[in-house]
Amino acid sequence: MFISFEGIEGSGKSSLIKNLKNYYKNHALDVFFTKEPGGTELGEKIREILLDPTSEIDPSSELLLLMADRVHHVKNKINPNLNENKIVFCDRYIDSTIAYQGGGRDLDDKDIEVMIKMLKLPIPDLTILLDVPVETGLKRAKERSELDRFEKEDIDFHKKIRQSYLNLQKKYPDRIIIFNASINENDVFEEVLNYIKSKIDDRD
Ligand code: TYD
Repeated sequence: MFISFEGIEGSGKSSLIKNLKNYYKNHALDVFFTKEPGGTELGEKIREILLDPTSEIDPSSELLLLMADRVHHVKNKINPNLNENKIVFCDRYIDSTIAYQGGGRDLDDKDIEVMIKMLKLPIPDLTILLDVPVETGLKRAKERSELDRFEKEDIDFHKKIRQSYLNLQKKYPDRIIIFNASINENDVFEEVLNYIKSKIDDRD
């Protein structure tokens, strides 16, 4: 089973995934946690380039760097773990590309969807979308640490990303489940965990 996690900057994705990791550490279930960009050695290098605020990258090159990371990651980590019947939890995946490069950078969503098909990327069984207002998310991100190349973009960029995520959820309501992430992080964790558990039970 393949589960991805999505959301704008400061949506609380990292805390949620930390809590899930902790929870599943003490469970017999076979789980594998990974992330994009950066789930492999090559990916870590690509991630550094992408997040470095001094990198000058045009939108199409950005898209191709992210896709290079993804293809390598799918081949070397995601598919092998899925083939071993593990539950794969991935922090960001294809919907990030449609939201950030499609919505945020104004590339054509349809072209990105064609690439996803062409590259035979597996589609998650479930996508958890954490939704918060952009102002709340950016405030959290600013309090957390130094801003990276994406976080440094203006508020309109982040608003377009949030809107694109909401559109994606409407387009794929069976796969993408939205959670209000404005509430406290423990409540978000409980809600998401219960949802994931029910999906895993359904599968068995
Ligand atoms: P990261 O530090 O992992 O951010 P976060 O904690 O918000 O997940 O940085 C990943 C950044 O890469 C994030 O700003 C979103 C961006 N990104 C894209 O623009 N497109 C993509 O396809 C992916 C996977 C990430």
